[in-house]
Amino acid sequence: MADLENRKILLGVTGGIAAYKGIELVRRLREVGARVRVVMTSGARRFVTAQSFQAVSGEAVRDDLWDAEAEAAMGHIELARWADQVLVAPATADFIARLAAGMANDLLSTLCLATDAPVWVAPSMNRVMWANPATQANVRQLETRDVTFIGPASGDQACGEVGLGRMSEPAEIVAALVDGGSGVVQSLAGRHVLITAGPTRERIDPVRYISNHSSGKMGYAIARAAVAAGARVTLVSGPVALATPRGVDRVNVESAAQMHRAVHDAVGDADVFIATAAVADHRPVAPAAHKIKKTGDSVTLTLEQTPDILASVTALPASPFAVGFAAETRDVELYAEQKLKKKNLDMIVANRVGEDDGQMVGFGTDENAVTVIWSDGRQVLPRATKLSLAHELIAIIAERMAATGSARSNRSA
Ligand code: PMT
Repeated sequence: MADLENRKILLGVTGGIAAYKGIELVRRLREVGARVRVVMTSGARRFVTAQSFQAVSGEAVRDDLWDAEAEAAMGHIELARWADQVLVAPATADFIARLAAGMANDLLSTLCLATDAPVWVAPSMNRVMWANPATQANVRQLETRDVTFIGPASGDQACGEVGLGRMSEPAEIVAALVDGGSGVVQSLAGRHVLITAGPTRERIDPVRYISNHSSGKMGYAIARAAVAAGARVTLVSGPVALATPRGVDRVNVESAAQMHRAVHDAVGDADVFIATAAVADHRPVAPAAHKIKKTGDSVTLTLEQTPDILASVTALPASPFAVGFAAETRDVELYAEQKLKKKNLDMIVANRVGEDDGQMVGFGTDENAVTVIWSDGRQVLPRATKLSLAHELIAIIAERMAATGSARSNRSA
């Protein structure tokens, strides 16, 4: 097992019964070479003393944003900069909610807001609190902001109940940190992954455009998962309201033509191309130079096809491993199989979209459910967060690339 030699870990301990496991966690982190500084919330101090953490970490423990001596030198900013990684374990439901809301009302939450370091969270709470939609919404929100969750685990709880919510064991938390991302295998280390995400906008006149409901969430989740798997990632993004994931090189575009250009600028050394974007299939032939006025009852727009970006990539003499998405409202897998062949892809992700009992599925949601299809196999990925599906998809892509013996495509021309 690789170790955490000289990794500077800021361990945040919040007020749950599992705080006592923090002592063993510090000991195990130091065994694998990490330097650990502990920050406790006021709730944590009710379960464990600062002296215990000081003794096992060999470092001063901080628990107060208003510590005059430490803050004379802006101690919280110094700590936020010091950390290579922030780990909050145990993290209570209250702390997770404060983190999701971006609050800075104690030292630990302020540090999490002020740091550039990756933030990892090991939740610990009663199973009903964990399952509560408010907690689940906070977790999803944090996942979209690159916070990594370890656990929780299932089992006996301090309150006498049994279920999902107890903190993962210190050994599991350390193993996850050593692996570099919730146990994410570095399956794409050294690879360049090019991804398209979001919608495109096709101009009708200076104030109107043709577009669709894509939020970019699926593509951005895939970008995050590819980074976690060790890849260099270029994300060509249509207009979305999402933050750029850590470690991703983002190129902003608006129209299909711009996306086509940006993809071909970056595809030269790409090993994998994943086309998640919902590219408009048609655009006005002649966008108006000025706002179209209401001169009659109807307006006629003449549309032409946009360039098929994905097909243009697989037509290259040295195409990367190409993965398409097929967004369909019916006969999803059938249409996806047709696109797999027609666009000459290595793999396609069949994604049912549209309305389900009045609720949008696929587009805009935090969760998705897809079937991954390749020439002689398929795998159903049941409903889960887009980030969790993205990790599974990246693992399947790495497996298929290994099976075909190369990053480059083995498709027939
Ligand atoms: O962004 P979200 O809100 O998270 O939603 C995710 C999603 C539903 C948009 C995503 O999961 C998805 O299914 N994306 C593909 C949408 C789509 O346009 O599918 P399509 O069947 O029209 O196109 C097939 C494939 O060709 C896609 O990989 C698409 O990116 C690509 N394409 C299509 C047209 C075009 N001109 N150029 C392309 O590259």
